[in-house]
Amino acid sequence: MLVLGIETSCDDTAAAVLLDGRRILANVVSSQDQIHGPYGGVVPELASRQHIRNILPIVDSALAKAGVTPKELGGIAVTRGPGLVGSLLVGLSVAKAIAFRWGMPYVGVNHLEAHLLAIHLEHEVPFPYIALLASGGHTLLYCVRDVGEYHYLGGTRDDAAGEAYDKAAKMMGLGYPGGRVIDQLAQTGNRKAIRFPRARLKKSPFDFSFSGVKTSVLQYLKSQDHQAWKEQMTDIAASFQEAVVDMLINPTVTAAVAQGVKRIVLAGGVAANSRLREKINDRAEAENLQVYFPSAKFCTDNAAMIALTGYHWIQRGRRDDFALNADADLTL
Ligand code: KG4
Ligand code: ZN
Repeated sequence: MLVLGIETSCDDTAAAVLLDGRRILANVVSSQDQIHGPYGGVVPELASRQHIRNILPIVDSALAKAGVTPKELGGIAVTRGPGLVGSLLVGLSVAKAIAFRWGMPYVGVNHLEAHLLAIHLEHEVPFPYIALLASGGHTLLYCVRDVGEYHYLGGTRDDAAGEAYDKAAKMMGLGYPGGRVIDQLAQTGNRKAIRFPRARLKKSPFDFSFSGVKTSVLQYLKSQDHQAWKEQMTDIAASFQEAVVDMLINPTVTAAVAQGVKRIVLAGGVAANSRLREKINDRAEAENLQVYFPSAKFCTDNAAMIALTGYHWIQRGRRDDFALNADADLTL
């Protein structure tokens, strides 16, 4: 079955075509980073306007790349939340219109669920697995037992990991979004140059907190004169990254050991981080665990993961009707 996936939950307009839940025939993403960059974060009104401009060309381009006409599709999957409501509505309206015109099933997909399942686009990973979802909007730890069976283990008490990256990057004058830039700068920095704090939540070992490290970076920058910290940029980036990576890895590995689950899956934009991948592999090896990560394009927001999730639900007989609304605060 051919499924068209549509994703417009935040600032990326994306469409993908998936065959039988595994073969990616097309995966098209139009990023709005250049539009939001000057504002240091996503401006919701600009995001929805840009989605309106992009969505039809992006869907057309995905169908053309896949060599598929709309009437050949077996179904449509579209993100219905969580996200920015104006952005979500653009994708949802287009999905409904295509489904209505061609009389085909469509399902609204939970964006978080899609991140948790994205690994299956590229790897055969048996259930259950511990999934760390670390993105710009979320930092969550789940035990994934099957499609539709997500056992919540913990989450962030304050900022999401990607948000901490983006805020630190902003303080350092590195632009938005900052995760990838800090990752690159850190390659040549000394990870031990500055000892930033690692939050440990003793009573909830599977929770996360990133506000402390963010404040420490700010205090460190304020304590130095501008020229001095400009010269230490790579060391600040590497030391900050090491603290964030440690705070992501500890609860994840602890959860896998405590639950007796042998597999760990990374998901979300921060899962593209090179140091996180390297370090969690080392830790997992020591604990006899196996770690899987999607390639970078399937860590960040994409429509292939939406098509994959929708495919599984359509196969299980789910059909949404046209009254379905976007839900900005949708939970799992
Ligand atoms: O999953 P995603 O594309 O969008 C959300 O659903 O939020 O994640 C975007 C986040 C941003 O905060 C970005 O700075 C971060 O992922 N990010 C990274 C890297 N690439 C993207 N953070 C750390 N290292 C990276 N290489
Ligand atoms: Zn996302």
